[in-house]
Amino acid sequence: MNHDAPIDAPFWLLPVVHVLDQWMGRGASPREAVAAQFERGAPSEDRVAVSRIAYAAIRKDRQLAFALGAAVDELDRNGRAAAIALAEGVSCGELAPDEARELFLRWSAIQLGWDDVLRVESAAKRIPDAMQRFAVLHSLPDWVAALLVDEFGDEAEVVARSLAQEPPRAIRANTLKVKDRGELATKLADVGISTTFGRYAKDALLVTDQSSLFETEAFRLGMFEQQDEGSQLIALVTAPPPRGRVFDACAGSGGKSLALAALLNNKGRVLAADVHKGRMDGLALRAARAGAFNLECAIVPEDDWPQHVAAFAVSCDRILLDVPCSGIGSWRRRPEARWMLEPRDIDSLLRTQAMLLDRAAHALKPGARIIYATCTVLRRENEAQVEAALARHPSLELVRIAEILGKAIAMPIADPTGTFVSLRPDRHQADGFFAAVLRKKR
Ligand SMILES: C[S@@+](CC[C@H](N)C(=O)[O-])C[C@H]1O[C@@H](n2cnc3c(N)ncnc32)[C@H](O)[C@@H]1O
Repeated sequence: MNHDAPIDAPFWLLPVVHVLDQWMGRGASPREAVAAQFERGAPSEDRVAVSRIAYAAIRKDRQLAFALGAAVDELDRNGRAAAIALAEGVSCGELAPDEARELFLRWSAIQLGWDDVLRVESAAKRIPDAMQRFAVLHSLPDWVAALLVDEFGDEAEVVARSLAQEPPRAIRANTLKVKDRGELATKLADVGISTTFGRYAKDALLVTDQSSLFETEAFRLGMFEQQDEGSQLIALVTAPPPRGRVFDACAGSGGKSLALAALLNNKGRVLAADVHKGRMDGLALRAARAGAFNLECAIVPEDDWPQHVAAFAVSCDRILLDVPCSGIGSWRRRPEARWMLEPRDIDSLLRTQAMLLDRAAHALKPGARIIYATCTVLRRENEAQVEAALARHPSLELVRIAEILGKAIAMPIADPTGTFVSLRPDRHQADGFFAAVLRKKR
């Protein structure tokens, strides 16, 4: 064996460097940058491996740069991308430090702390400033570290750690196309895809291998949608009455609208609205694939609902406000998000959330409900917003989640009083979701 032979670069290295380079330079979405690397039909396992390493590298950027040392910031963009990609390769056990050192010579001769990558936690624990120590250890901007400590106190550590984990691959069985998730599980097993039942949402399956889901016949026939269990639960607590009318006022790409259309069994009506045309663009196609015919879309301005939308809002049984939020609860799926959020965003989000609550409260007919939902774990965007809305609108009252879903289903996903949906990645394996149900008094 020739020990001096140059080592071959692992297959994932150049694609991961490219994804990081695109993200560092243009702020390109890692998901899109990964997709651009692979032709249709490329082995799903390769794509999954590249995503996994690139996502982890982006998430851990601050921690890995700390381990490599200050010299990493002297590199040009591509060199920095290579250094972070290789450091993640060392961190996840794909490469030995010496292999990373040798491979990095293709980009630069600058000396970096490759051996320190494996001892980064103990090195970070020696940072004298407590907040900076927390931020480096969990690879967060300083201000987010301070926010988590402020909100969670002693639990901040476990929350921050959970936000860096890999999320489960969850799908929702579309009951317009299959009887139940058991039938879907069998169909997927027939093509070699293994799943288990999700713990909380009745239609949820968790995919336990890395197979490509989107090339299956089951997907083509609309038998499932990719959707986190937390997101599925928001549709379940919306609990539309049979043949009911539901206004999904912040529908985005329409994941919850589709779940609601299925819960209504194609009866009743779902109006999906959003300010962002681009997000809603694919919804009509997805609805057609899912066999959902009770769903309509509307693009709305930010500050008001057009007349036909407002008319629907005053007549409907449920207004789902899946409001824009800091999104911290779904950071595991969007590794770049922790670097994009800015302190001033939180203030502006709080204002938009309150404005949407006020608008819905005014429109709501007696007996109808607002479902206020977020994918964040911050109290200021969740319980505090609901408390303030109840104070501003005495005509609203809380409906406990336990009352809607029954105690057995509600207990594991609700706060200790059984009032709100309160999902946390560290406790539930699902994304961090919150929901409160507010009813207009009769
Ligand atoms: C959390 S996302 C919704 C996700 C979506 N419900 C889903 O399940 O995929 C929040 C959405 O609110 C939209 N939004 C922001 N301001 C809005 C406003 N004033 N009115 C309606 N939608 C708004 C954003 O464009 C974004 O798509």
